[in-house]
Amino acid sequence: MDRRYRKTIVAGNWKMNMTPSEAKKLAVSLLPLNSVRTTSVVLCVPAIDIPAVSKAVKTSHLSVGAQTCHYAESGAFTGETSVSMLRDCNVKYVIVGHSERRRLFNETDTDVNLKALAVLGAGMHPIVCIGETQEQRDAGVTEEVINLQIKLALKDMTAAQIRRIVIAYEPIWAIGTGNTATPEQAEEVCSFIRSVLRGIYGARVARAVSILYGGSMNEKNAASLLKKPDIDGGLIGGASLSAEKFSAIVEASK
Ligand code: PGA
Repeated sequence: MDRRYRKTIVAGNWKMNMTPSEAKKLAVSLLPLNSVRTTSVVLCVPAIDIPAVSKAVKTSHLSVGAQTCHYAESGAFTGETSVSMLRDCNVKYVIVGHSERRRLFNETDTDVNLKALAVLGAGMHPIVCIGETQEQRDAGVTEEVINLQIKLALKDMTAAQIRRIVIAYEPIWAIGTGNTATPEQAEEVCSFIRSVLRGIYGARVARAVSILYGGSMNEKNAASLLKKPDIDGGLIGGASLSAEKFSAIVEASK
């Protein structure tokens, strides 16, 4: 990480875990992280948990995030959540394009782009997830895949908007598998992502974007990943459900 130009962010992705009362308890147990001022701590919780978690962290520096949103302002979209609903609940970050949603709900790069633009339009920060499959890595096309995902997800964004996005590099083969990318593998792709941004928006914009690594990051491997210059934090799934493990990752990012 490089704190001169960009924020260090550690975000927990709770996925479909925690009832509202469990979520409140976990959020309260994370409040001591308020003392860590060098890292932005974000809790990306299930939509139904957002009001309880927002209330629990209200007087702290911890932020609340959502795991997805719809891109339309309102209307006949049964079961969906709009960006203004999220903002009204004090949500600051929204994950868009997580690989589980791309796979399970057929979210396309176009959907990811529209969602990210909606999140920016509402004054929040999209955490745009990209990453290759094992098959793509084995075939040697990781950079092509990443390049295409970035260009499609960030289509029509201004340089000022790019400065407000967060990118999460999450190799699909590393998510929930315990098969973490090595710091060298993760840095290689994160620095490639920054070079793609540099090519389109210039060096000043590219160096302002926080790029997170996600995929089996835990309290044991976090420090070595976060030492790398282009890895500005983590998007943590499994380990974010344990206050002890998540807190240790945040400590490692100090
Ligand atoms: P994991 O999940 O840490 O459990 O691998 C990361 C993610 O899906 O964001």
